Amino acid sequence: MNVETDIITLTRFILQEQQKLAPAATGELSLLLNSLQFAFKFIAHNIRRAELVNLIGISGTANSTGDVQKKLDVIGDEIFINAMKSSNNVKVLVSEEQEDLIIFEGGGRYAVCTDPIDGSSNIDAGVSVGTIFGIYRLKDDSKGSINDVLRKGTEMVAAGYTMYGASAHLMLTTGHGVNGFTLDTQLGEFILTSPNLSIPKSRAIYSVNEGNSYYWPEYIKKYIEDLKKPQDDLKGKPYSARYVGSMVADIHRTLLYGGIFAYPADTKSKNGKLRILYECFPMAMLMEQAGGSAVNDKGERILDILPKGIHDKSGIWLGSQGEIDKFLTYLP
Ligand code: AHG
Ligand code: MN
Ligand code: MN
Ligand code: MN
Repeated sequence: MNVETDIITLTRFILQEQQKLAPAATGELSLLLNSLQFAFKFIAHNIRRAELVNLIGISGTANSTGDVQKKLDVIGDEIFINAMKSSNNVKVLVSEEQEDLIIFEGGGRYAVCTDPIDGSSNIDAGVSVGTIFGIYRLKDDSKGSINDVLRKGTEMVAAGYTMYGASAHLMLTTGHGVNGFTLDTQLGEFILTSPNLSIPKSRAIYSVNEGNSYYWPEYIKKYIEDLKKPQDDLKGKPYSARYVGSMVADIHRTLLYGGIFAYPADTKSKNGKLRILYECFPMAMLMEQAGGSAVNDKGERILDILPKGIHDKSGIWLGSQGEIDKFLTYLP
């Protein structure tokens, strides 16, 4: 029986990373990531129990982007706010579930943007949901304000998500590649399970809500229709369609299997549906760090967008470089 006796926990991994970055690394980001992992464990615990303690269903309220808030949206948001407040490292927090940004007391030097529960429309059906996060370091002279988050995605210092599926999977980048961790509920630790993850260069899988296709511009309709035809480089087979409807689940599959995910803008949602600060930027940073790519409907790099509002949205295409390159040939 071979017992793994030298497992790498998230805490150990973060300290190893910190030593690589020392002396620049002050340990503050390591402490923040540890507070984040507590939030993921606590949210995972509540999601597992949701049906048992009547936590599914709607909360009867809506958020500033017009989403109906589920009970778990509200609970996930409260858990996250409390974990960030008690970390003493976070000064500014943007949450999908909070109209305005939150400024904490104390001298925290980080701004965190979060989607506490992504995919919540699916949650009552037991489909995987997740928490998405992106982290900025405050500007040197800043005491903490909206200017610390209305910045390009290229300025994020860390990003990732935790998907609450059969296990809790954390995908994390601190700008030096992507590493995947799985929560061992017995140990209560996230264990390194996918070191240095890279996305396949191409894969014949497309992931988009075709229920919106009537409202798409012609070039997007043509691109998607062409994927359905027999492909010369696939021995005459067409692409496969895979769409969960939870961004975290669709991105997790795209990172592991390859392919392309899209939520385009259309005539009914002129900036698309996904929010830049806490959905587009973190997933774009992960994709680029895994060797993939992330662009908007015009083919411009997502991380170069400068948001004007904390809940701004953008059309988004992300996944394998080869698939993004194919999409770019359809631009008008
Ligand atoms: P959230 O649950 O955080 O509001 O996000 C929902 C998003 C995202 O998870 C997913 O990709 C998209 O909504 C699905 O939208 P459609 O149901 O319109 O396809
Ligand atoms: Mn929502
Ligand atoms: Mn979301
Ligand atoms: Mn959400």
